Amino acid sequence: MNELIELVNKKLDEYLPVSYPEEIFESMRYSLLAGGKRLRPIMCLEACRVFGGDMEKALPTACAFEMLHTQSLIHDDLPCMDNDDYRRGKLTNHKNFSESTAVLAGDALISYGQQLIIDKSDLPAEIIVKILREHALAAGAYGIIAGQIVDIAMEGKPYDAKVLEYIHTHKTADLFKAALKSGAHVANANEQQLKTMEDFGQTLGFAFQICDDILDEISTFEEMGKTMGKDKKEGKLTYTALFGLEESKNKLDCLLDESCAILKKQNINSEIFNTIIEQIREKGK
Ligand code: IPE
Ligand code: IPE
Ligand code: MG
Ligand code: MG
Ligand code: MG
Repeated sequence: MNELIELVNKKLDEYLPVSYPEEIFESMRYSLLAGGKRLRPIMCLEACRVFGGDMEKALPTACAFEMLHTQSLIHDDLPCMDNDDYRRGKLTNHKNFSESTAVLAGDALISYGQQLIIDKSDLPAEIIVKILREHALAAGAYGIIAGQIVDIAMEGKPYDAKVLEYIHTHKTADLFKAALKSGAHVANANEQQLKTMEDFGQTLGFAFQICDDILDEISTFEEMGKTMGKDKKEGKLTYTALFGLEESKNKLDCLLDESCAILKKQNINSEIFNTIIEQIREKGK
């Protein structure tokens, strides 16, 4: 796990050098290289490996998904969204630069990732098109943006389990699915294997967002590098708001067991996937 994190960090740094105009590259690098668990690129690389692909060939794609994730965080933190001052233990992008730079840095990280996939991937064109499609779907109005717009619209509104599932699926699980399926595409995976990654990403991504909701109630700034306890204050529709802490913890456990079962059923043995699952389980306790 640590080796993969190091590899991803090294590649992110290498793929995004500062050039002119410096302000945009510096603000992109500020948030991208601020740390983070690198879960999405690691899942992308591991999906490639478990289906027999060459991990090296998945590196531009893996980094593009971390760039997309970082964009979602920069924009999520903006005053017009969640209005947060800290991210990854540092001032948020708009606090350190400006709102206009943060908006542009987010936009630039999406398209820079796509450029990376096209320019740096040693893959057949038809595979690149499949990966770009996953990336575009996750980034857009069928993916993260769908989740985020409903998340914002539901602030302070009556709670509804169906809407909650919609938000968590799109704002979080869609990116998990896309990163996993893209890694699988690098390995030229078949329909069954892609479906397994889809199901695994949905279940694990949903679990991950429930864990994030739990942590907002029980964790600390030191642990998470972002302000805690804000969801309740803002009247966010979270799993804990709807079902309470205990039931959320039970649901988290169930979904993590289900994630394991999805892999086991297809005989996928992955220490990395298991480590990610158990880390989420531990954190949400
Ligand atoms: C935070 O994601 C946003 C959510 C989807 C809950 P991570 O918890 O993976 O954030 P980093 O990448 O480690 O900073
Ligand atoms: C994260 O939801 C979803 C994103 C697309 C960034 P949150 O708003 O709960 O994420 P944090 O808690 O700010 O990281
Ligand atoms: Mg949010
Ligand atoms: Mg937020
Ligand atoms: Mg949160």
